[in-house]
Amino acid sequence: MSDVDPFFAISISSLAQRMKAEGKSVIHMEFGQPSTGAPAAAIAAAHRVLDTDSLGYWESHPLKQRIAQHYQDTYGVTVRPSQLTMTCGASPALVAGLAAAFRPGDVIAMARPGYVSYRNTVRALNLVPLEIACGPGTRFQLSAAMLADLDPAPAGVIIASPANPTGSIIPPDELAAIARVCAERGIRIVSDEIYHGLTFGDPTPSMLQFEPNAIVVNSFSKYFSMPGWRLGWLLAPPDLAARAAGHAGVLFLTAPALSQHAALAAMDCREELDGHLVTYRRNRQLLLDALPALGLDKIAPPDGAFYIYADVGALTSDSLAFCKELLTDTGVATAPGVDFDPVEGHRFIRISFAVSTPQVEDAIARMIPWFAAQRAKAAAA
Ligand SMILES: Cc1ncc(COP(=O)(O)O)c(C=O)c1O
Repeated sequence: MSDVDPFFAISISSLAQRMKAEGKSVIHMEFGQPSTGAPAAAIAAAHRVLDTDSLGYWESHPLKQRIAQHYQDTYGVTVRPSQLTMTCGASPALVAGLAAAFRPGDVIAMARPGYVSYRNTVRALNLVPLEIACGPGTRFQLSAAMLADLDPAPAGVIIASPANPTGSIIPPDELAAIARVCAERGIRIVSDEIYHGLTFGDPTPSMLQFEPNAIVVNSFSKYFSMPGWRLGWLLAPPDLAARAAGHAGVLFLTAPALSQHAALAAMDCREELDGHLVTYRRNRQLLLDALPALGLDKIAPPDGAFYIYADVGALTSDSLAFCKELLTDTGVATAPGVDFDPVEGHRFIRISFAVSTPQVEDAIARMIPWFAAQRAKAAAA
């Protein structure tokens, strides 16, 4: 039987919900989800479809064509709609992609820290996770050199740029080098591009620009601000596409019809969606400016996504207890690093800034005296 670790942020969220039910003021910075809803045109499309469509099992060809167009427009990469499978978010896309491409026992490399589902999904499929410790030197990301050094070469690697929990990006030349090493060593790349569109500097390239045989997962949950609509996609190279679609179909049937109609409209709402990025940029800066006042100086400023992964090792060696205490005392909910890094995550917390700017300001005001008290406690101990 494969072991699946619990997602500790869920226990933080449950505590936050209980506090809210008791009338306490809570700021939800524990989950990586936009607090904004779907774009207005997507909601309008959904209203129209509810009255006119029977909403059966369905995969939208127009949406797949539109996504293929997006690859051409954004990355200059030609993708055929037949390479795409619509899924209930990036999560099942990852399951179907891994199941289609690998055999039980295959080793899949990934960065540690990394998104909680990677190691768990890999294990649940009877694949073997190989977590590679990544620190500030590579901005918590895998490098081509690390992959070149693995002996034997793993069957696959999961790349995430921008990454969860750090928001860090792999620079284009390093992505190209990773693609080269993987091609030479026969390592299949799975690229999680769920945070594309949410970058604070230059836009990040798709792995497909360097490796056309990469498997790509993506979703409407982040940039498109539609996490509860449960819609994403799996993009597989032509030789694997039918197998990947077969796995997704057998395991999950189709993605929600209503969401696919709405998503087609969402793809043309860039102005509204880029407005969220303006808010995230402001929130990011507010937090970066406030971190010294919290005594937190060991962070990698995020290049994308909406997270700050902060080293709180001077204050605790138990990030879960730390997050619980922070929440109970101040109402600010954050995620413990142990979700992302079972080895060193006990001294990190992840703060999501996908909330409103007044909420970020409020959270900072609550955290400053609390962190000062923790520092005083640590100094006295
Ligand atoms: C890096 C990463 N990949 C995949 C997912 C899964 O997202 P969804 O299934 O909502 O598309 C998440 C969710 O937070 C994530 O952070």
